[in-house]
Amino acid sequence: MYAQGLINASGDPNAAETTEQLARFQARIDAEEKIEARDWMPAAYRKTLIRQISQHAHSEIIGMQPEGNWVTRAPSLRRKASLLAKVQDEGGHGLYLYAAAETLGISREEMQDQLLSGAAKYSSIFNYPTLTWADIGAIGWLVDGAAIMNQIPLCRCSYGPYARAMVRVCKEESFHQRQGYEIMTTLAQGAPAQKAMAQDALNRWWTPSVMMFGPPDTDSVHSDQSMTWKIKRFTNDALRQRFVDATVPQADYLGLTVPDPDCKWNDAAQHYDIGPLDWNDFWKVVKGGGPMNRQRIAARQKADDDGAWVREAALAYAAKRSALMEAAE
Ligand SMILES: [Fe+2]
Ligand SMILES: [Fe+2]
Repeated sequence: MYAQGLINASGDPNAAETTEQLARFQARIDAEEKIEARDWMPAAYRKTLIRQISQHAHSEIIGMQPEGNWVTRAPSLRRKASLLAKVQDEGGHGLYLYAAAETLGISREEMQDQLLSGAAKYSSIFNYPTLTWADIGAIGWLVDGAAIMNQIPLCRCSYGPYARAMVRVCKEESFHQRQGYEIMTTLAQGAPAQKAMAQDALNRWWTPSVMMFGPPDTDSVHSDQSMTWKIKRFTNDALRQRFVDATVPQADYLGLTVPDPDCKWNDAAQHYDIGPLDWNDFWKVVKGGGPMNRQRIAARQKADDDGAWVREAALAYAAKRSALMEAAE
């Protein structure tokens, strides 16, 4: 018996996936077994993971830009060293994740082309500019804070290489979140102008951070299947609520105010309520209309162009070596 309309994981459209194969696969998932690169998997599972892991990798790499922008202007050597380490960590996260995606059969070049052509997306949060030093604090606190909420459950993702990459990534994200919160604490406890700068950064980064969890569950296209496959463990709205509940008291501690008049503790629900979010604005930024989309991709394109000679030289060197080896045989 064959399932209709599916192609085999080998990519051969003529080899259909049997319902037995699909059932066996789901049984492994339900038993919390990790799926490894060489294991049989449905083509749609592979495709979903390639999309998710490559978008995650692109987000790490593009995410280096807004903060890299402040490395030369960090207010002290200590701040500069921490920021440099953080930006470097993000580069490392991107590389682990590209490597994890490669285990699913996509090449680094293909992923890079998808990013540069706009075919692949990255987290929309990185399409906003970093206007002041306080933005570096707000990004660490809020953006890395949201990333942790999203990524801790990914350490238990059903796909082994992705889950394992996430363990180390999460440890580093926790350092990022703390360095951001420490910057915010210093500013919030500083002169009135510094406190105002911290509040202004919170005002600009709050909503995009809350939106990092993706559209509401009612509109989330990929959620149900990803939950069944245990790629995702919690829905977008559940993770968003968890982030809001953790972050609002942190803002209170700083003496700062979350820019949402509807954000209040709901005693009956034992959660913070938040006001409605403007998802049209979110989709506009995702589709390229954010303040920094063009610059972000232009910077990646330049890096790709500037690195072309290195790739060419490496290939020429490899070809020369193998010709020499052949001649010596
Ligand atoms: Fe990261
Ligand atoms: Fe980070």
